[in-house]
Amino acid sequence: MTDFSSVKDKVVVITGAADGLGEAIAQCFGENGMKVVVSDIDAEKGNKVVEQIKSKGGEASFIKADVSKEIDVKEMMDFAVETYGCLDGLVNNAGIAAANRPTHEYSVAEFDRLTSVNLKGVFLGLKFGVEAILKSKSSSGFIINIASLAGLLGNSSMGLYSSAKHGVVGLTKSAALDYAPYNITVNAICPGTFRTSIWGDAPEEQVQQYAKMLSPNGKLGDPKEIGHLALFLASDLARYISGSAISIDAGSSAGKLTPSKWSHPEILV
Ligand SMILES: NC(=O)c1ccc[n+]([C@@H]2O[C@H](COP(=O)([O-])OP(=O)(O)OC[C@H]3O[C@@H](n4cnc5c(N)ncnc54)[C@H](O)[C@@H]3O)[C@@H](O)[C@H]2O)c1
Repeated sequence: MTDFSSVKDKVVVITGAADGLGEAIAQCFGENGMKVVVSDIDAEKGNKVVEQIKSKGGEASFIKADVSKEIDVKEMMDFAVETYGCLDGLVNNAGIAAANRPTHEYSVAEFDRLTSVNLKGVFLGLKFGVEAILKSKSSSGFIINIASLAGLLGNSSMGLYSSAKHGVVGLTKSAALDYAPYNITVNAICPGTFRTSIWGDAPEEQVQQYAKMLSPNGKLGDPKEIGHLALFLASDLARYISGSAISIDAGSSAGKLTPSKWSHPEILV
């Protein structure tokens, strides 16, 4: 049986952990005995996640932090070390979406806002997170950056989001090389289409339509699957994996879908 017990008692900070994929990662880490610092701009939801983890016998604390603010990110890492004595890992998950438009129609303010959270936020996490992990002398430090399928492929009408996520993949690969000698792995997870509140008020029908269009199996991903992949990357089972941008997208990033006619469709019935 595969043994994930190496993660037990590891201290981890997860940004944007009050909802969606970050929450799923926090729950999964909590269930597996990690000490989880849940961080988010939404204190109400963040504290609820902490309570849920604790109610299942896990260990967690909340700190309010905006990843686009240097002081918040520094204080978030200090809080983790003050609360649990060290830091072993960090999940840079917090991210926002932008409206879909052709590149020239985005305003400079939209560019600054999106980039400050989705790219600068990851840089700040690395800057202060790596420092705290190094000072903690963690024997198996790890950083997981939540990028996107849009960090691997261009997307029409998504120039801002896609460019920031490509930047996250670039930061991941470079940082992996910087810290490999110091026993810190750095990887990116590139989700396809998952059902979370990042879709905002988009009607269910539209989201399902997107899933059919974007996902080769026509389905939305379950956030729990991101939690499981993150758990593996945080564990000692994955110490030789670093600098990777790992897709979790039902094959979306594998290539183009082309129509084909089956000679023997009867095998499907
Ligand atoms: N859901 C998807 O289909 C999908 C696909 C690819 C990539 N992603 C990426 O996954 C990550 C999580 O997305 P999600 O779908 O769970 O989104 P979500 O909107 O459900 O949750 C994001 C969380 O981040 C928090 N947040 C927003 N801005 C913040 C800030 N400045 N500082 C700290 N916290 C902040 C929000 O309060 C929220 O709790 C993002 O980086 C997103 O780009 C999501």
